[in-house]
Amino acid sequence: MTFARIIGTGSYMPERILTNADLEQMVDTTDQWILDRTGIRERRIIAEDQKVSDLAEIAAKRALEASGTKAVDIDLVIVASATSELIFPSLACLIQQRLGIGDCPAFDINAACTGFIYQLDVANQFIKNGSAKNVLLVAAEGLSKVVDWDDRATCVLFSDGAGAVVLTADSKPGIRSTHIHADGTYSELLYAPSGRYGDDPPHIRMKGNDVFKVAVTKLGAVVTEALQANNLVVDDIDWLVPHQANLRIIKATAKRIHLPMERVILTIEKQGNTSAASVPLALDTGVREGKIKAGDTVLMEAFGAGFTWGSALVDF
Ligand code: ACO
Repeated sequence: MTFARIIGTGSYMPERILTNADLEQMVDTTDQWILDRTGIRERRIIAEDQKVSDLAEIAAKRALEASGTKAVDIDLVIVASATSELIFPSLACLIQQRLGIGDCPAFDINAACTGFIYQLDVANQFIKNGSAKNVLLVAAEGLSKVVDWDDRATCVLFSDGAGAVVLTADSKPGIRSTHIHADGTYSELLYAPSGRYGDDPPHIRMKGNDVFKVAVTKLGAVVTEALQANNLVVDDIDWLVPHQANLRIIKATAKRIHLPMERVILTIEKQGNTSAASVPLALDTGVREGKIKAGDTVLMEAFGAGFTWGSALVDF
């Protein structure tokens, strides 16, 4: 039997830090409100001369290096992003070219904050059915470009960055399960217009409190779904790597499966919400800090615009 194994992780965050104190000077907010309601202290902002593809390229190179895989041996590239600098070509094609990856399929996925879980699901199917052997996944966002910097309810949340993994076909797991979901009837609770139709500027619009309630319910259900599908109990999970949207949502999800917070990878305080990039960024942080080790069982989950949500249960 063939499994998809994660054999290398990488990430990159832009240098510029925007603190809660900085935001106090920009909108009517306080460090205490942001910290209490979200758990965020600071976020990163892409430089004037940087593009989302630049963040993606650095994260991808770091993941390739960590995996010991040569760029020419990659035979599928998938990028998750909602904030590419180009409408086309895809970020995946840009990354394929810049890294010197040869002729292979390359395409982007947009599932908002759930992008990385969708990528894992798709890559898993390519590897399991023999269509790909070495897959590069990159998730990259420049959300600061679509944030309304006058809207205190959203501008305190979002951040820029990129995360990446390399997967390879192996006889041992690997990805044990993925579960991906979507319900477009919620699309008006969280969206960003393109700015190309009507008068709507290309800014994130969110009914935060409504999103919060659905996120807690769906994420609670999806982590339970993952455990049940694999006949696992919570003690079998070494680490939960959640989407870093809100510390209160993360705590509610961990509580739902009675997982102590000591086994949750948390990056939200210093990284904010980087949408699709948030799970691979947290994963790479956990690996590089020596927390996630070979042999560990890791449960990843995410929730985002669409709504989309999902989980991936992976052995390292
Ligand atoms: N500073 C101070 N006060 C604020 C701020 C701020 N930055 N933002 C909002 N408030 C005020 C509101 O105006 C409101 O005031 P009012 O009571 O006088 O009307 C009050 O705080 C409470 O507002 P709520 O929106 O009810 O606050 P809530 O506790 O829900 O926290 C938050 C807001 C942090 C946005 C939360 O709802 C949340 O995290 N939602 C989910 C976000 C999420 O998971 N998104 C999905 C992924 S993102 C993606 O897919 C791109």
